[in-house]
Amino acid sequence: MRDRTTAVKELFEDTALYLTYDYNLQIRKETVEAFTSGLHCTNVLDMPSGTGVISIPLLNRTEKLTLIDISANMLAIAKKNISAEYAHKTEVINADFFALNLQDNAYDLVICMGLLAHVNSPEQLLNRLSGLLKPNGLLIIQNTNASHFYSYLIRMYLGLKNLVRKQSYKLNKVTAGFVENTLQNNNLELIKSYRYNQSFLGFSNLFSNEKKYKLTREFFGDATKPKNQSFGSDYTYLFKKKS
Ligand SMILES: C[S@@+](CC[C@H](N)C(=O)[O-])C[C@H]1O[C@@H](n2cnc3c(N)ncnc32)[C@H](O)[C@@H]1O
Repeated sequence: MRDRTTAVKELFEDTALYLTYDYNLQIRKETVEAFTSGLHCTNVLDMPSGTGVISIPLLNRTEKLTLIDISANMLAIAKKNISAEYAHKTEVINADFFALNLQDNAYDLVICMGLLAHVNSPEQLLNRLSGLLKPNGLLIIQNTNASHFYSYLIRMYLGLKNLVRKQSYKLNKVTAGFVENTLQNNNLELIKSYRYNQSFLGFSNLFSNEKKYKLTREFFGDATKPKNQSFGSDYTYLFKKKS
């Protein structure tokens, strides 16, 4: 059987499949923008960066940005997204995060969107990310709360779909409580969060990305003016490491 790291790399080398749902990327990008508004950053880590669209916009107020991803194809797109004027302050690393020996207490902003569902150990990921932050450093991390009612609906829907089309790739089920407790045990405090739903269940194909973006914003607002948050299963958190 293939190990998880090989499976996740294979999955995300197919960038077209992931980028089909690009309205989510737009929401993630705008959430990070809102959470970091007015902030000047010294050393930023975006891991996993995917195509870099979430963090590259921060380059005009960042001294150094490191993009890490296990998918070479994602990073090939990211490199094209970095304008020549910012190339000197951007480092792009194609590697498994867990195989890297990054310096502890080194980053004032760490962005980790879309990874908790894909790793061998969510706890190891949360502990490792916490260690990388400087005191007072910020962590922006996304998780789909496995114990939210909407996640149960999604799992039921996917379960039915799998009866017809077998999918071997399994996502981790990580709860909001687990993320919040683990990070708090790592000396991080929760500053705020923004919640919405990533999935339109079986209705996804009925709407364009533009329409899905518009519907999401109408119902959930944005990170500056969130609405109906208790209905959202997908959490983007802003945590701060205590000094
Ligand atoms: C759902 S995508 C998220 C990408 C981006 N953060 C975003 O929100 O669009 C997950 C990414 O994690 C990367 N990835 C998965 N496991 C990884 C690992 N162990 N080390 C580095 N990158 C990894 C994949 O290649 C993929 O690009």
